[in-house]
Amino acid sequence: MTILVTGAAGFIGHNLCLALLLRGERVVGVDSLNDYYDPALKRARLERLASFERFRFAQLDMAEEGALERAVSPDEITHIVNLAAQAGVRYSIDNPRAYVRSNLDGYVNVLEFARASKNLKHLVYASSSSVYGDRDGGPFRESDPVTKPVSLYSATKISGEILSQSYAHLYGIPMTGLRFFTVYGAWGRPDMAYWMFTEKILKGETIDIYAAGEMSRDFTYIDDVITALGRIVDTPPVTDIPHAVYNLGNSTPTPLMDLVHAVEKACGRTAKKNFMAKQMGDVSKTFADISKAQAAFNYTPKTTIEQGIPVFVDWYRDFYNI
Ligand SMILES: NC(=O)c1ccc[n+]([C@@H]2O[C@H](COP(=O)([O-])OP(=O)(O)OC[C@H]3O[C@@H](n4cnc5c(N)ncnc54)[C@H](O)[C@@H]3O)[C@@H](O)[C@H]2O)c1
Repeated sequence: MTILVTGAAGFIGHNLCLALLLRGERVVGVDSLNDYYDPALKRARLERLASFERFRFAQLDMAEEGALERAVSPDEITHIVNLAAQAGVRYSIDNPRAYVRSNLDGYVNVLEFARASKNLKHLVYASSSSVYGDRDGGPFRESDPVTKPVSLYSATKISGEILSQSYAHLYGIPMTGLRFFTVYGAWGRPDMAYWMFTEKILKGETIDIYAAGEMSRDFTYIDDVITALGRIVDTPPVTDIPHAVYNLGNSTPTPLMDLVHAVEKACGRTAKKNFMAKQMGDVSKTFADISKAQAAFNYTPKTTIEQGIPVFVDWYRDFYNI
């Protein structure tokens, strides 16, 4: 097995590379190391992978036509996990073109790379819970219509699923799309609420709480996601048109204020709070029905935020020497 992981310096990508290397796979990682957030964090993640002989890394922008093929021979690759993307809902309001570039142009280049590979067995790609739009109720099922994005980020993730369907139909490329629900944990992302709350609480600064805290998220711990990803990579769909989409959430919508309290407890400090209006592009709630992934991959997320947040805060303090 030789697995191409795009977004290998990213939060989920580098954790996946590590898990695949530890189980003995050969991994080729690519990433642009862009500065959407601190590239030093991305380099530090790559350092965790550098000691593995079976790991190779190429810095490239996959939105550049031919960049992937210049760095990696398509026939060398048996599996692809596409995690590179311009992530984040809020940034998409002011920076739409970054999303079109990485999530549409970049992804089409990954699909073309897959089409050129003679030995490819499976392409797994990241979608997002944001495809469900701004809804109440739940749990959200994979069979629910996803036609009402409230951000361009979400629109590009829905488009990724549709592009994948066409490639699976036209060329029979086995593909699995994963709708991640607010993945968090050590080595995480500085643009996400749990990180910003931790950073500000430890500095004694005021935290901004949007929608007056009236939001809930299905927080999903990184280790639960990585365990599932390992199994999913090994299990291409065998349907006529070989394309399947799964929710990877925790199936526990958690009020934002519970996250704030978990971070406060882990930091040992009470936050100064500034309650703000809901931001454009934000959704009120995410809530995954995970029965489909449970049945297919025995996906059983185990980690609550009361368990996962202290692990993140410990990592954060250690990483930044606080
Ligand atoms: N973390 C979550 O909660 C979450 C939730 C839903 C979906 N997702 C999706 O999962 C995937 C991984 O997310 P993450 O949290 O690890 O994000 P991340 O931002 O940490 O990782 C993405 C990586 O992709 C790289 N990248 C971006 N554009 C690129 C390009 N054109 N060429 C090469 N590399 C490029 C970035 O440098 C970054 O290192 C993304 O597709 C994201 O949209 C994540």
